[in-house]
Amino acid sequence: MDFAFTTARIDVNRTACAVIGVYQGGPLPPAASEIDALSKGALSKLIKTGDVTAALGKTQLLHGLEGVPAERILIVGCGAEPQLDEVKYTKILAAASASLRQTGARDATFYLTELRVPGRDLFWQVRHIVQKTCESAYQFDQLKTEREHNKSKQRLRKVALCLPRRADSDDAKRALQEGMAIASGMALAKDLGNLPPNVCTPRYLADTARALGKENSSVAVTVLNEAEMKKLGMGALLCVARGSHEPPRLIAIEYRGGHKSEAPVVLVGKGVTFDSGGISIKPADKLDEMKFDMCGAASVLGTLKAVLELSLPVNVVGIIPACENLPSGTATKPGDIITSLSKQTVEILNTDAEGRLLLCDALTYAKRFKPAVVIDIATLTGACVIALGAHASGLFSDDDELADALLTAGSYAGDRAWRLPLWEEYAEQLKSNFADVANIGSREGGAIVAARFLARFTEAYRWAHLDIAGTAWRSGDEKGANGRPVPLLTQYLLDWSRTRAKSA
Ligand code: BES
Ligand code: MN
Ligand code: ZN
Repeated sequence: MDFAFTTARIDVNRTACAVIGVYQGGPLPPAASEIDALSKGALSKLIKTGDVTAALGKTQLLHGLEGVPAERILIVGCGAEPQLDEVKYTKILAAASASLRQTGARDATFYLTELRVPGRDLFWQVRHIVQKTCESAYQFDQLKTEREHNKSKQRLRKVALCLPRRADSDDAKRALQEGMAIASGMALAKDLGNLPPNVCTPRYLADTARALGKENSSVAVTVLNEAEMKKLGMGALLCVARGSHEPPRLIAIEYRGGHKSEAPVVLVGKGVTFDSGGISIKPADKLDEMKFDMCGAASVLGTLKAVLELSLPVNVVGIIPACENLPSGTATKPGDIITSLSKQTVEILNTDAEGRLLLCDALTYAKRFKPAVVIDIATLTGACVIALGAHASGLFSDDDELADALLTAGSYAGDRAWRLPLWEEYAEQLKSNFADVANIGSREGGAIVAARFLARFTEAYRWAHLDIAGTAWRSGDEKGANGRPVPLLTQYLLDWSRTRAKSA
């Protein structure tokens, strides 16, 4: 997709499609009002007769409107003007870019930059238009023999964004870069999530990490195999991998974009490439979706891709513990007690609570990078899906400043998280009669109990945990990975690099 900026107004723009907004109950935004004037009141007549409605997210296409040089006009309903906010604005963009794809237009000009979004500026709008346009172009058809995007669908090649003034274009260019980088990080995360578990194995994740490293000289990738992990004493990670023939991997990707002496942000992503539950096996319904249990890992790789594309002046380390969780004669059993890298012993009461076992060793391993902060990202609990549904990722942290920074980044990026408590009381459930800690408690507050388990291994640094079990993918007809929380994480690092620059 090619992007460009223009200041051309409706009266002189021969675009294949002008994308404009209309409000319920008026007033007409500038582009709509210009179209109305050029067409001698045709648009306002269509609105008056009810043929064009401004309901939020509703789109309508007008073709060859007399007096208007644009070939087509895509009208997007924006709801009532006083109610427009950033969440509604991104819904408008999603609807607009999806409809635009259904038209035959090869190019288009977005006039949605002229809508006023309270609390957000033109930079933010440009970024989100770019991001949504790229997102809607995403297709996962590499395993279909007849590839969809060879068909007419991918006609749209060029998107122009109308800016109020030429002087805005420097700012807009930076927003464009950020939008494209985030979209390409999301596309990588989606691809990894969508790939089937017989392709996207721990080794495949390691190869993907290595490929990122090859493209860039400020990246170093290390991959530990089973023997190396055994030597280090990663008993928690290894006990999950025991049931599978597919060997586990511990992947570390170090990006040094900042000053040498600066402590890195460490991102730890759960990489269970298939979670059957192990001996505590899951029911068959929707079990295929447990290929998405590596979406935390995918988001780490996607975020690093975005950071590399932007050459952000920060140090970031990605750590990915990766394995399969399968039952077999060699699999870990409920009742087994293992010793983690931290030396704490863990009684495995349920082999389906495997994410925390991978993560606890990876979080202990993270210490060697002397992190400024550590954020882990995991499709960790079904309980988090029950608590927050598909709209917000669960955020857990004892560090208010870090939690606030992540919440702020999430809302700016349109990839929201919601904070849940992490109180010590929830740890009581994890008492074991036979080991230092058990890997499960009772069902109540399951997402918090899981976070509390992780907290035992993160005392050495500032830490936050994101439970993305509800947000990382969609089920049903639109089944597929969402690329979340790449926007949140990339935004956090963008913000991080800015505050660093200020304090330096
Ligand atoms: N990967 C799952 C969590 C999950 C379940 C994510 C459903 C998305 C949808 C995780 O490994 C798991 O199985 N967690 C268990 C924990 C329980 C045994 C304490 C769960 O949530 O049921
Ligand atoms: Mn599980
Ligand atoms: Zn899992």
